[in-house]
Amino acid sequence: MCGIVGYVGFREAYPVLVKGLHRLEYRGYDSAGVALVNGNALNIYKTKGKVSRLERFAETQNVGGNIGIAHTRWATHGEPNDVNAHPHCSESGTLAIIHNGIVENYAVLKAALVENGYTFRSCTDTEVMVQLIEYVRSSNGCTLLEALQIALRQVVGAYAIALIDKNDPDRILAARRSSPLVVGLGNDEYFLASDATPIVEYTDKVVYIDDGEIAVIDRGKPLRVVNFDNVESTFDVRRLEMSICQLEKGSYPHFMLKEIFEQPSTIRDCIRGRINIEADRVTLSGAFDNRERFLAAQRIVIVACGTSWHAALIGEYLIEEMCRIPVEVEYASEFRYRNPVIHNSDVVIDLSQSGETADTLAAVELAKSKGAFIFGVCNAVGSSIPRATDSGAYIHVGPEIGVASTKAFTGQVTVLAMLALTLAREKGSIDREQYIATIRHLVQLPQLIEGALKLDGQIRELSKIFTYARNFLYLGRGYNYPVALEGALKLKEISYIHAEGYPAAEMKHGPIALIDNEMPIIVIATADSLYDKTVSNIEEIKARGGRVVAIVSEGDTVVRGIADYVLEVPQAPEPASCIVSTIPLQLLAYYIAVNKGRNVDQPRNLAKSVTVE
Ligand code: G6P
Repeated sequence: MCGIVGYVGFREAYPVLVKGLHRLEYRGYDSAGVALVNGNALNIYKTKGKVSRLERFAETQNVGGNIGIAHTRWATHGEPNDVNAHPHCSESGTLAIIHNGIVENYAVLKAALVENGYTFRSCTDTEVMVQLIEYVRSSNGCTLLEALQIALRQVVGAYAIALIDKNDPDRILAARRSSPLVVGLGNDEYFLASDATPIVEYTDKVVYIDDGEIAVIDRGKPLRVVNFDNVESTFDVRRLEMSICQLEKGSYPHFMLKEIFEQPSTIRDCIRGRINIEADRVTLSGAFDNRERFLAAQRIVIVACGTSWHAALIGEYLIEEMCRIPVEVEYASEFRYRNPVIHNSDVVIDLSQSGETADTLAAVELAKSKGAFIFGVCNAVGSSIPRATDSGAYIHVGPEIGVASTKAFTGQVTVLAMLALTLAREKGSIDREQYIATIRHLVQLPQLIEGALKLDGQIRELSKIFTYARNFLYLGRGYNYPVALEGALKLKEISYIHAEGYPAAEMKHGPIALIDNEMPIIVIATADSLYDKTVSNIEEIKARGGRVVAIVSEGDTVVRGIADYVLEVPQAPEPASCIVSTIPLQLLAYYIAVNKGRNVDQPRNLAKSVTVE
């Protein structure tokens, strides 16, 4: 959470920084600020609220200068207000810092600084860092780089920071530990940011800074990267594969709707080069190349958070069914702190859209330290998790900007299906007929999703009936149980309506008591092996006066006769079917949130990339 941007070069810094903040707003949007060095002045403008509010505020200010840093915040220490917004300034007013992360020992450091006469304006941990750096510099008489290195050796926690000094208008120092940091290399100019999205329109050359490293970014000089002991690090310059149109809404009113409608093409990108339909063969190379490790595993553990955790549950069903290897799915935040049993024969799959989720990243480190083989399934290329794993596979669905995950979920399930198929073939645990049929349905997924997207108009109308419902229940069985969980999460995230997902058969152990004609119940009742059982569950709901919206397969007549409303999706076997069933649930959540006037792309209190625990 929190997004940081920096620029030094020949352009006016402010427009670059503000545009960058808009791109990073998905990371947090409760306050924003910018610091610019212009001549002898260090100008800091910051305000509570979104980046657009900062822009309105800065309109009347002097925003000149071609070096600066900027920040969009998701509050951890201190409520979102003008004072707690970043950048934060040192006591003397010389240094300005921006920070993404948490300083865990800030209270101890702050107490020591207060004893030394420092005063604090904000309640943030970040202000402690900049004061500490200034204190070290003035008490040791050292350079700013040396002071930063000494200070960071005392800081416990996670951070990506950028620091400027008004007396050195050609230099930005940026450091990271556990929070992402990318430097963009232009011609005579440098960019830095939490991810590559603010950089891509200026240059496609980037350097991903590693943990424990400091980027020394000097106008007109080559980039240097050093560690906290001042040892020079070598670094690779990577080429970005992102395009600007992926970062814009185009004709869509929201990124979320754009991303829902992109799914036919994102699934095509996801399977491209991995499925050879002529040969009826799927090869997920990261899994294939490490097949011995996978097939020797006593078990596979999948760790994830949020929507990725729902995709992981589908992965569990797929791998167990096709590969007959036991799979456990864990919330990363629980896994990392509950002293789990991990054997060196285990394979741990880390599933994360952003590749930056702090808990998932910590789970990688924990499993690694116990000798497990770590496989990452991520979307953001070059992010921290793929760089920390032994091997992995990208989902290749392009940047996802709406805070509520949509296309990443379907991409994750598709990759997990390809992983299961790759391993099952190698293990010989799947019969050829099923193998070929599953591949063919994955290839057809883009058309099947296009079919489901045709429900758009119908769902927009249906959403009007339910806009003011206060609670929703989502039910599904088998592969559709995680889909029910995901449908409920989508609605909660963006409409702020309470919604619960449940295995349909578990309904009678509790939620059945909630049924009345006020609470809509969404049931995924597509034609699969559990169809008849799900139909019985719908009967149970109707017998108690509940209102049912059923997702059914095209041509269904049975559920149509019982449910209040039906949404027909193209028929397909698993796992293609559960991906297709997800589409109407994404659209339903979207339209209900729009009807309620919610900020769909930036729902309150949420952030897309959760880089704090
Ligand atoms: C946040 C996002 C969710 C996402 C979750 C896990 O809560 O709002 O959309 O599913 O983090 O993120 P990851 O990037 O690890 O998949």
